[in-house]
Amino acid sequence: MRAVDIIIKKRNGLSLSREEIHFIIDGYVKGEIPDYQVSALLMAICFQGLNKDEQVDLTMEMLNSGEKIDLSSIKGICVDKHSTGGVGDKTTLVIAPIIAACGLKIAKMSGRGLGHTGGTLDKLESIPGFKIAISPKDFFKQVEEIGIAVVGQTANITPADKKLYALRDVTGTIDSVGLIAGSIMSKKLASGAHSILLDVKVGDGAFMTTIEDARVLARAMVDIGNSCGRKTVAMLTDMDQPLGEAVGNSLEVIEVIETLKGNGPQDFTKLCFEICTEMLLMTDFAKTKEEALFMINKVLKNGSAMEKLRQMIIYQGGNPKVIEDYQLFAQAKRVVDIRSDKTGYIKKIHTHRIGDAAMILGAGRKTKDDIIDPSVGIKVLGKIGDFVNAGEIIAKVYSNDREEESAINITKEAFEIINEVVQKNKIVLDIVQ
Ligand code: URA
Repeated sequence: MRAVDIIIKKRNGLSLSREEIHFIIDGYVKGEIPDYQVSALLMAICFQGLNKDEQVDLTMEMLNSGEKIDLSSIKGICVDKHSTGGVGDKTTLVIAPIIAACGLKIAKMSGRGLGHTGGTLDKLESIPGFKIAISPKDFFKQVEEIGIAVVGQTANITPADKKLYALRDVTGTIDSVGLIAGSIMSKKLASGAHSILLDVKVGDGAFMTTIEDARVLARAMVDIGNSCGRKTVAMLTDMDQPLGEAVGNSLEVIEVIETLKGNGPQDFTKLCFEICTEMLLMTDFAKTKEEALFMINKVLKNGSAMEKLRQMIIYQGGNPKVIEDYQLFAQAKRVVDIRSDKTGYIKKIHTHRIGDAAMILGAGRKTKDDIIDPSVGIKVLGKIGDFVNAGEIIAKVYSNDREEESAINITKEAFEIINEVVQKNKIVLDIVQ
């Protein structure tokens, strides 16, 4: 078999066999097939797609490229949650402590930022000392002891995804249903949770910009999960504007802490409540929506959700004092106010562009070796449907020395303001069981 023949076959729109997919994945992980051939194949997949069988085969080959974690001996139900990626999406860091405080066990392997979207690992690393590289043994132990762990993929877990993810990020090959489904589901299956909640983002700031494409992706992932014996549910949620206010690593973790203190932005808090509710229902931990909401409110009010975050920070080597003292996070040198140049209603926020602006400031990576600056980012204060006066602050840019001018311009231009009243966005668009 030769990689070039497989590239040509996919370029010509033909389906790949399990053996061919195995040849590529295995050869790439072993370093026998170079980046440039895999990049060409990824691009061909972006144009030609993968059918259902190819999607399952790719997922299985990626899953089998490394170790699998067996959580079956842990007492209680282990759940996992994954977002397809968005701008300002720090949901995991609120959901995981709430769910753990409610009594479920959350065992989560997260990713780094991809393209214009942020990554949970980059956010966690903005907590001084926080370690995301944990051995499978310690991951298991942490989940068993405190019921919560959010870690990076260890080198031995889906190494194929680790390499492909970094390559896709810099070769314009992210937004393909088959590649996203394979990437997410291989990780979810490898990390061993019994139940999986998928948050499929839809809109300008997501990889799936239309509800139709998002439904196809959700269906593909739910089918893969259920066919492997894991209870899998997908929620389609709005990403036509940044989630909450903060975009950028430290800023987002501060927003997480504020949300657990009960002071989070309304849209973000609502989404966290909806996802937690679904997780409690799908695991039969709550029988009704009302019961789920009661449980969530209780662990927020009595401080046990915050306590779970504190325990996770301590177990993973971070400084828990950040919960009380935000000055312990790296601080940006400058904060620049962005003011509306018109009076009217916010009609659109070009969310992808906000993600780009945060990335060029240093919150994300342009190339796979770029170093993240945890302190920089953007706060989006105006939301779709809000009425703003000319001169009112609609965003803030937190910057150090990288590309401040461009980020300010992009952020300013990302807002469209009109005279007519604009409806606010719905946050949960659909649920795929
Ligand atoms: N998140 C992932 O884990 N993989 C993708 O391909 C996209 C989002």
